[in-house]
Amino acid sequence: MSSSPTPFNRLLLTGAAGGLGKVLRERLKPYARILRLSDIAEMPAATSEHEEVVRCDLADKQAVDQLVEGVDAILHFGGVSTEHSFETILGANICGTFHLYEAARRHGVKRVIFASSNHVIGFHQQTETLDAHCLRRPDSYYGLSKSYGEDLASFYFDRYGIETVSVRIGSSFPEPQNVRMLATWFSYDDLVQLMECSLYASDVGHTVVYGVSDNKAKWWDNRYAAHLGYAPKDSSEPFREKVEALPPLPADDPQRIYQGGAFAAMGPFEGK
Ligand SMILES: NC(=O)c1ccc[n+]([C@@H]2O[C@H](COP(=O)([O-])OP(=O)(O)OC[C@H]3O[C@@H](n4cnc5c(N)ncnc54)[C@H](O)[C@@H]3O)[C@@H](O)[C@H]2O)c1
Repeated sequence: MSSSPTPFNRLLLTGAAGGLGKVLRERLKPYARILRLSDIAEMPAATSEHEEVVRCDLADKQAVDQLVEGVDAILHFGGVSTEHSFETILGANICGTFHLYEAARRHGVKRVIFASSNHVIGFHQQTETLDAHCLRRPDSYYGLSKSYGEDLASFYFDRYGIETVSVRIGSSFPEPQNVRMLATWFSYDDLVQLMECSLYASDVGHTVVYGVSDNKAKWWDNRYAAHLGYAPKDSSEPFREKVEALPPLPADDPQRIYQGGAFAAMGPFEGK
């Protein structure tokens, strides 16, 4: 990408109070004259006339409709971000993502970046290499909700021409926290680069890309997202010694078998 792309007039970031939302609140500033920041949780007030802070529950269709009015593109990071009962996931992730696309349609928004997840493919084994065309094997109700989000993205492009980049985020934290994350780690700098690529690349249709750094341990192949121009710069390798010094897990631990790790063994949530 060019070093200084033309800023959008107004970008909407959902999930702005969350871990990645806080990072993006700072790092998206060059890309928008006004950043509209939204979450169900409390957030620090706007720090300048370039920010708008709007509390909004994604499960509230009317509120989401108002939230989306006047924005040029959406980075959809809000929602329940770990495994929970279906009922907990339903409002924010399934209804919420539908409300967001409906609002995008009504208000003429042309581009969404959807924070999908590796848990869409989490029941594939760690010995497999996956591309964007692989069979999805969700590992959780959470993963199912992200799979539904990807299908919404596909439908809203085919039916209404709203483009989406669905980013199957691996593990985006300051550093990898365990051996599995040597393959799934996605540095904040690489996250920001992928957001820039996803906002500015032309003709993305519905593109699925794995949100992952240039790790030596590789499970994911981004050949079908080459048109985004994403070229990760970071690697988990400098953290290898540190995470390999952690107490080893038994060979049958899901964190050693499945790409989705521990999510593949959560639940049931409704008793026996
Ligand atoms: N961090 C990662 O490694 C990772 C990996 C895969 C996918 N993701 C996805 O990226 C996004 C951001 O992840 P994160 O790590 O910052 O998670 P997070 O849990 O820190 O942030 C999610 C935010 O969504 C908000 N939210 C929850 N329910 C809501 C509702 N009903 N209405 C409005 N807002 C609501 C929460 O208050 C929270 O601030 C999530 O969608 C997550 O599923 C993250």
